[in-house]
Amino acid sequence: MKIAIACDHGAYDNKEQLKRKLIQEGYEIEDFGCFSADSVDYPKMAYPCAKAVSEGRADRGIVLCGTGIGVSIVANKVRGIRCAHVHDPQSARLTREHNDSNMLAMGGRILSQPQIEEIAEIWLKTPFSNEERHQRRIAMIAQIEEGTFDAE
Ligand code: RB5
Repeated sequence: MKIAIACDHGAYDNKEQLKRKLIQEGYEIEDFGCFSADSVDYPKMAYPCAKAVSEGRADRGIVLCGTGIGVSIVANKVRGIRCAHVHDPQSARLTREHNDSNMLAMGGRILSQPQIEEIAEIWLKTPFSNEERHQRRIAMIAQIEEGTFDAE
């Protein structure tokens, strides 16, 4: 599985440590930065990372910033991205089973490094449930992107 990863200065060390662990576990990683703890603008890293997932150049994406909020907002602007902003292991599992999320956002100033690694591991290893009701809801999200969704 190839993973696109990105962060801003609020989670630079977290991204570096998570990247090392995932590489050790055999994942292929494409790193969209940032590449130091200097202050940067998170859309510049999160957007190309999300585009890589959207265009099929990566299977999944993981984005990190101070809170996880900014990078998740950016990723969810990209067509086909379902980015889950996750703080706990149960949500990591449920967003894979229910939302088939293809990106994960976490906050380096909110979570500890062990929490980030545990959440990432669960999220990467949990398959989509493929249940019809979840497929139906995900299809509705795609219709919203296309402007064809009718909520009535
Ligand atoms: C950067 O200071 C901070 O705003 C950013 O990392 C993130 O938390 C934004 O949502």
